[in-house]
Amino acid sequence: FLYITLALLASYLIGAIPFGYIIPKVFKNIDIREHGSKNVGSTNVIRVLGLKYGIPTFLLDCFKGALPIIIIRYVLGYQELNLVDIYDISILYGAFAAIGHIKSIYIGFKGGKAVATGVGAVIAINPIVGLSGIAIFFIVAFSTKYVSIGSVVASFLVGVFMWIAVLIPELWIPSQHLILNYQSQSINLTVLSIIVLLIIYMHKKNFVRLLNGTENKIGQKKKNK
Ligand code: G3P
Repeated sequence: FLYITLALLASYLIGAIPFGYIIPKVFKNIDIREHGSKNVGSTNVIRVLGLKYGIPTFLLDCFKGALPIIIIRYVLGYQELNLVDIYDISILYGAFAAIGHIKSIYIGFKGGKAVATGVGAVIAINPIVGLSGIAIFFIVAFSTKYVSIGSVVASFLVGVFMWIAVLIPELWIPSQHLILNYQSQSINLTVLSIIVLLIIYMHKKNFVRLLNGTENKIGQKKKNK
C-alpha cells in the first residue's frame, strides 16, 4: 500500500511539471497564462509561439504521462505476477500524472487540460490505442479546424478503445495470454472513465467559445481574450 501511495504521489509530481508554462517563460519570458486561450498546454504554446516551442512542449507533456507507467510497468514490474492472474493498475498512475497537469502544485494548482499527458500515458499502456487516438485527433482537428473538437472526440474514442483493451486480455498486454484480475480491471475501468470525462470537462470554456463562434481556428491568429 505504501509502495502504491508513493508511486501515485511521484506520478502526480511528475505530471505537475508545467512545461507549457516553463518553456515560454524560460525562452521568451512570456507568461502563457496571459496569451492566446491562456491555457497552459502545447496547443496554446503553438498558437502563441509556434511549432518550434510548441512541439517540444507537446512531447515533454506526453513524456510525463508515459514516464510513471514506463517505470512502474516495465522497470519495476508488476506487483503480483503469476501465470493466471495479473495485477496492473497502470491507468491510475497515468491518471495521477494527468491530475498533476490539470492542478499543478508548482503553479498554484492551475494547469492545462491533460490531453498530451493523457496521450503519453495511453501510448505507454497500449501503443496501438494511443497512436490511433493521435490519428483520430489529426483527422477531426484538421477537418473541423478546431483543436478542441479533435481533443474531445479523440479522448472519448480512446476511452472506448481502452475499455475494449482492458476487457480483452490479449489487447491489454499484447503477446501474453494473462488475465487482468477482477480488482485491477475494475480500478482501471473506473479510473479511465473518470479521467476521460475530466479531460472533456476541462474543455468547458472551449465549448462555450464554440457556441459563441469565438473559438480559435487552426491557421487563424489568436482570437479570444
Ligand atoms: O489540448 C487542449 C486543446 O484541446 C485546446 O486548447 O488552448 O485551444 O484551449 P486551447
